[in-house]
Amino acid sequence: MTAVITIDGPVSSGKGTVARRVAGALGWHLLDSGALYRLLGLHARNCGVALDDEPALVALARELPVRFREAQGEMVILLQDQDVSDILRTEEVGELASRVAVLQPVRDALMARQKAFAEPPGLVADGRDMGTVVFTGAPLKIYLTASAEERARRRYNQLKDKGFGANLAALVEDIRARDDRDINRPVAPLRPADDAVQIDSTDMSVDDVVNRILDEAHQRQLA
Ligand code: DC
Repeated sequence: MTAVITIDGPVSSGKGTVARRVAGALGWHLLDSGALYRLLGLHARNCGVALDDEPALVALARELPVRFREAQGEMVILLQDQDVSDILRTEEVGELASRVAVLQPVRDALMARQKAFAEPPGLVADGRDMGTVVFTGAPLKIYLTASAEERARRRYNQLKDKGFGANLAALVEDIRARDDRDINRPVAPLRPADDAVQIDSTDMSVDDVVNRILDEAHQRQLA
């Protein structure tokens, strides 16, 4: 069975960056499961499918016309042969994703697609339920978090770097509201797996977090 490292955690905890770095260091494949929910939300909108039409969304999820291609170290995501890598990261598409992600039949339909990413030599999978639902047998599960204030600060700096204005207090509120929704949703709620290693990155650099995870992987003889 292919080894999997799962990295779950709340919004803006740095999962994506850390997962990419860990996968790069190990030479393993990467699954950004949030991108699948984002792709489905975007595809549904493009196809004129309502975000509460479960049967139609399930059909779209099964046939998502998506390809992942690596170009100059960056992941390029093609939906119906169109590069959607940038639009996928927008708040608007995040909102579409969060609406389809609460539907259990949709989550079930995306399950096989997520599992198919587990190919040798190994997979690093990031999301909300990688360790608790999708890859329950993973030999290393990470639950990555940081205080709401620190996550808001990171998001603020990202937005500023991209030339967007932002209000720090509003971002803290937004992150608290999203945590509340993620933790309390009835379907695949965000929580650490019982056997997860919990890492609070509030006072850690990205390098610190990556090295900590690689240490855990070495201890388990995964690398
Ligand atoms: O991590 P992200 O912002 O790209 O996730 C987009 C949305 O999908 C967000 O609402 C959480 C949801 N999601 C999920 O329910 N389960 C996952 N494994 C990954 C993301």
